[in-house]
Amino acid sequence: MGARFGIIGLATMGQNLALNVSRKGFSVAVFNRTAERTKALMERVKDEPIVPTFSLREFVGALEKPRAVLLMVQAGKPVDEVLSELFPLLEPGDLVMDGGNSHFLDTERRLKEAEARGLRYLGMGISGGEAGALRGPAIMAGGHAAGYAQVEEILRAIAAQGLDGPCCGYFGPGGAGHYVKMVHNGIEYAVMQAIAECYDLMKRGLGLSPREAAEIFGEWNAGELESYLLSITVDILRTVDGETGSPLVELIKDAAEQKGTGKWSTQAALDLGAPTPTIAEAVFARIVSALKEERLSAEKALPGPSAALSPAPEGFLADLKKAYALTVVTAYGQGFRQLRDAAAEHGYGFALAEVARVWTAGCIIRARMLSEMRRAFLHHPDLPFLLLAEPFPRLWEEGHPSLRRVVCAAHRAGIPVPAMSSALNFLDAYRTGRLPANLIQAQRDYFGAHTYERLDKPGKFHTHWEEAPRC
Ligand code: 6PG
Repeated sequence: MGARFGIIGLATMGQNLALNVSRKGFSVAVFNRTAERTKALMERVKDEPIVPTFSLREFVGALEKPRAVLLMVQAGKPVDEVLSELFPLLEPGDLVMDGGNSHFLDTERRLKEAEARGLRYLGMGISGGEAGALRGPAIMAGGHAAGYAQVEEILRAIAAQGLDGPCCGYFGPGGAGHYVKMVHNGIEYAVMQAIAECYDLMKRGLGLSPREAAEIFGEWNAGELESYLLSITVDILRTVDGETGSPLVELIKDAAEQKGTGKWSTQAALDLGAPTPTIAEAVFARIVSALKEERLSAEKALPGPSAALSPAPEGFLADLKKAYALTVVTAYGQGFRQLRDAAAEHGYGFALAEVARVWTAGCIIRARMLSEMRRAFLHHPDLPFLLLAEPFPRLWEEGHPSLRRVVCAAHRAGIPVPAMSSALNFLDAYRTGRLPANLIQAQRDYFGAHTYERLDKPGKFHTHWEEAPRC
């Protein structure tokens, strides 16, 4: 009997997935280009049914038919390189899954290449990092439905167990799975940025230590704002550097990196015309943070306020918690709206409630609020924006005065809060029935004769502005 499941790529996530799958009783064949990683995995194996192989041909030969092969290799060219060697060794009916953070358009292309060979193909977002891979990730699959059916039992067994079942779902054809993962990462960027802004306000604004900030985030995490990202933030802020005895976080260079998924999410939103300004601001905040040397010289060239919020505004921390909550729900709402538009545009067909369900455990953006988000989408499947459905209007009513005070205080102190400020700007624009875009339409028609619509009668109009009567 051959192995039920195969994994190519044995960096830590691949190794951990192999251990997870095998511990759920499914035999696994593994292969890695460099044998060292295969040997490293086998040193971790006790009695798990894992078969090491040392060539791609040996790997394929070790799998039962129809074969199920999971690629856990770096997104981009490496995936194409592995597929170019793997595809010719497989037979019609075999399944290939790409578990990396591939761009959804790359997945669409590869899926067609697989189809031409009679192969099944899935693009799968696997969220939760190395720990999730071992103990239970969230899995967002898309591509051939028959391929998903072939491995659904295994994926459900290894996934994180949420309140409403395994956090594993099939989101439709083509690149649907990788699209959902991409937007997951966009929301991840926005929530991480919102937490960082709160930390900056606590540190530079209120003069709190990392440990004091950890206590505040810990209180937030004990209630409705509970989330994985808040919980790891508490751990990070309490971590002490072994060498110096100082808080480790304060020794880390303040230049954020990014592998690209948050950027792709914003690019895809712009292509769709989906409003995700808070996610976009989180991407740009990383870009600005990477300008470390420039910022050090600009700090001297452009002196400003001291950043201290002194005296601390009355009730500032209570405001900050509400401002954070409203910013985070706005970011999730923008992400879900993008997914709604993408499902329609690309024919993915998934339900937002199912996306929320898969995100309730295992993934990086897992949070207690996702259960309420799921209920909101169950009651309103085509909800245009999350804040419009119970219980979220309360967050707006209680939160927007706080968000205004926090953003104003931050701007007065010269502390950048792009995520919180963009959330407020988006919400104020979204709830304004009459925006100044009429002037933009007039300007476009003035210099480009692009025409405009009127409020008082149907049709498209153009004005010869230079000859038109003036008041
Ligand atoms: C996940 C994470 C993961 C992410 C890396 C780095 O869902 O487990 O989103 O897939 O890609 O943590 O992401 P960035 O380099 O883009 O921050």
